Amino acid sequence: MAKDVAAKKTAANDAAIEASRGHFSSKIGFIMAAAGSAVGLGNIWGFPTKVAENGGAAFLLIYLLMVFVLAFPMLVAELAIGRYGQGNPIASLRSVWQGKRWAPLLWGGLAMLVASLILSFYSIVAGWLIAFAAEPVFSGLGLMEQAGWLTEFSTARNASMAVIFSLLTIWVVSQGVADGIEKWSTRLMPLLFVLFAGMIVYMMTLDGASQGLTTYLVPDFSQVDARLLVDAMGQAFFSLSLGVGAMMVYGSYLKKDVNLPKVATQVAIIDTSVAFAAGLLVIPAMFVAKHNGVEIFNDAGDLISSGDLVFQVLPALFDTMGASGPFIAVIFFVLMMIAALTSSISLLEVPVSCAQDELGMARKTSSWVIGLAIIVISLVICLNFGTLFGLVVDFTTVYMQPALGIIWALVVGWVWHRNELLHELQQGNPELAQGWFWKIWPWYVRFVCPVAIAAVIFVSVS
Ligand code: PHE
Repeated sequence: MAKDVAAKKTAANDAAIEASRGHFSSKIGFIMAAAGSAVGLGNIWGFPTKVAENGGAAFLLIYLLMVFVLAFPMLVAELAIGRYGQGNPIASLRSVWQGKRWAPLLWGGLAMLVASLILSFYSIVAGWLIAFAAEPVFSGLGLMEQAGWLTEFSTARNASMAVIFSLLTIWVVSQGVADGIEKWSTRLMPLLFVLFAGMIVYMMTLDGASQGLTTYLVPDFSQVDARLLVDAMGQAFFSLSLGVGAMMVYGSYLKKDVNLPKVATQVAIIDTSVAFAAGLLVIPAMFVAKHNGVEIFNDAGDLISSGDLVFQVLPALFDTMGASGPFIAVIFFVLMMIAALTSSISLLEVPVSCAQDELGMARKTSSWVIGLAIIVISLVICLNFGTLFGLVVDFTTVYMQPALGIIWALVVGWVWHRNELLHELQQGNPELAQGWFWKIWPWYVRFVCPVAIAAVIFVSVS
């Protein structure tokens, strides 16, 4: 009896939430927002850095494999959980995990913490984008000392730029979903693609580029080891914004008539193309920079610094462009900053949506309280950069994102009733049950995804 009343209450509550939540006003708006979450530092900073660290094309190939066989099926899973639950990740998990109180809270809460930790290092790297976007302006004004400060690595620079970026993120999130996110992403992403294409074409004309192209496209399989596998898997999960509930939140803002496997495919294709293009730009640009005397490798042939590799290589490329260099640099870094912003807002949206629904906090209050707490974590990382930065990046992206993926695979595969899952996916795709997707995906997510993810993590730590 009590259970009945509780169930009715939740149903009524759900209906009220559904009626009051903003939904993406168009399918393209959703694709652009989800692609906006996916495309960010993971593509332009994370991916090329991992390719460079892991010797080139072998990483590229394994990465593509990881996107296709593990990340994509999990993207559909997370979007489905979110759209079914129509709530924050904790609430959505609760609707799938009917009757369970603690499991959704525990796993949703963990996802929220990991999202917050990712945001804490994300802001630091995104802060570098702000610094590099501002540098040509300061140089142009003759403020050489300030320009130097912006591009030189220092705790003060890292911390202040991270705070600026975080404040921007908090501000956008505090404004609300539909008008905040949609507006930002729809207008600016296409511009970024065009700029990328232009820069790649230009760079290919420079000396050294062809050596970089070979490194990027001709695989050397002796490079493949357990570390490369786990790095590639983590990178795929990071790049598609998986594990931490971001795609669940976006799924929850999605209307029921949208075909989930289809939009997931579109998002994965956009994200992977941008990562591929970023590699095509950065890896040859590394060799162009080396050709022009920038120190990229040490005597043993290893990268001198990997975390800020992109921030050495790209400015060196802009330097070769003569008078137009500073202008292109500003446009490039500003667009990248916006791409990073559409990702960071999806990260902050995870804990904010939880606090909003679960604790009944106002959006503005929860954005500021949580955002400021994350700024404190960023500052702690800045003050202990050498020890903490790499650790936090690896812990969250290489291990926790895929590990949480195992949980969501188990939830979709074993907890969720098959008929309800079918019904959820069928709403946007009435022929689903007859197609190949439904023949493969459910058992694939049930057995293959959790086992494969666990196996990769296991071989890398053992
Ligand atoms: N996918 C984003 C990027 O590539 C980062 C991100 C990770 C965003 C997890 C949301 C959740 O930059």
